[in-house]
Amino acid sequence: AARGHVKIVEVSPRDGLQNEARVVPTATKLELVRRLVAAGATCVEAGAFVSPKWVPQMADSPQILQQIAQQRGVSYPFLVPNDKGLAALLDIAGPRGSAPGQTDEIAIFTAATDAFARANTNCSVAESLERLAPVTQRALDAGLRVRGYVSVVGGCPYQGDVDPAHVGAVAKALLDMGCYEVSLGDTVGVATPAAMLAVLNECTRHAPVERFAAHCHDTFGTGLANVLACVDAGVRTVDAAVAGLGGCPYSPGATGNIDTESVVYALHESGYSTGFDLAALARIGGWISEEIGRPNGSSAGRALLAR
Ligand code: HMG
Ligand code: MG
Repeated sequence: AARGHVKIVEVSPRDGLQNEARVVPTATKLELVRRLVAAGATCVEAGAFVSPKWVPQMADSPQILQQIAQQRGVSYPFLVPNDKGLAALLDIAGPRGSAPGQTDEIAIFTAATDAFARANTNCSVAESLERLAPVTQRALDAGLRVRGYVSVVGGCPYQGDVDPAHVGAVAKALLDMGCYEVSLGDTVGVATPAAMLAVLNECTRHAPVERFAAHCHDTFGTGLANVLACVDAGVRTVDAAVAGLGGCPYSPGATGNIDTESVVYALHESGYSTGFDLAALARIGGWISEEIGRPNGSSAGRALLAR
């Protein structure tokens, strides 16, 4: 399209489903991943090798990794919090290129505040960076790409305001470690476009804008505006979840991720390509909402399904 391509990282199987109270069957998760790829997704965050004591909903991630029918040209990153998670993943994944059960990418995560890092991973930000450096090195040595997340960049449920310059420093630490990209997470969904741009400005003091992704939640209804402001500023990777699934277990009250349907609709209408078939995406949103017994959280999706 005239204005170029925006890569969407579909995070619904992980960030979307990690917070569901009732267990989502492994087969449903696999079908969600399959349908998203069939609708044009080239990157689907498919699960998390985290402690099942902390996030029981992701306990079947090893089975997911084993059973995904991998498509050429599609990445299926999994979240990894520590050595134990990486070892479990590598046990299944084996050397890169050995199918089935391979992934070419993991995602590591830390936060902009110590309070959130403690709630989410039981350690401070500095400790988490220390823990993640050898994990990243080992993953790189195994041929995996490593994506980094900084959570609560727009505000913290425990600590309140977040200094954008501090976000920049944490993002730089992840890039220095070897992450090819850092996703800036407004986990609580409180940021405004101006706030996201302030964060982005600090981050791009350390690396070009191509190295950053926008990961917005829609708690206060600013998610899509935030995404579009970031794209206007040069961001070309956006995280989103079909049907607006999600919410972080350690971010009380935060609602779902920005829905992929509205992001794709707005980008296509603005002259960007995403590779997604919007109508197919809307049908997936309707289907998964029914499967997990939730109202469809995408206004664009509901509108498309009503046509
Ligand atoms: P801990 O309790 O300090 O760690 O948790 P531990 O080493 O003492 O382990 C506790 C138990 O978990 C032990 O079992 C370990 O073996 C086990 P026990 O000995 O008691 O039987 N364990 C594991 N099991 C499987 N896989 C592992 C693993 N590690 C330990 N990898 C830890 C520390 C980091 C493990 C824990 O806090 C954790 O798993 N946290 C993950 C929380 C999480 O997944 N949060 C959601 C994702 S982040 C997010 O949503 C934000 C994001 O979307 C961006 C945004 O929205 O802004 C990324
Ligand atoms: Mg999230």
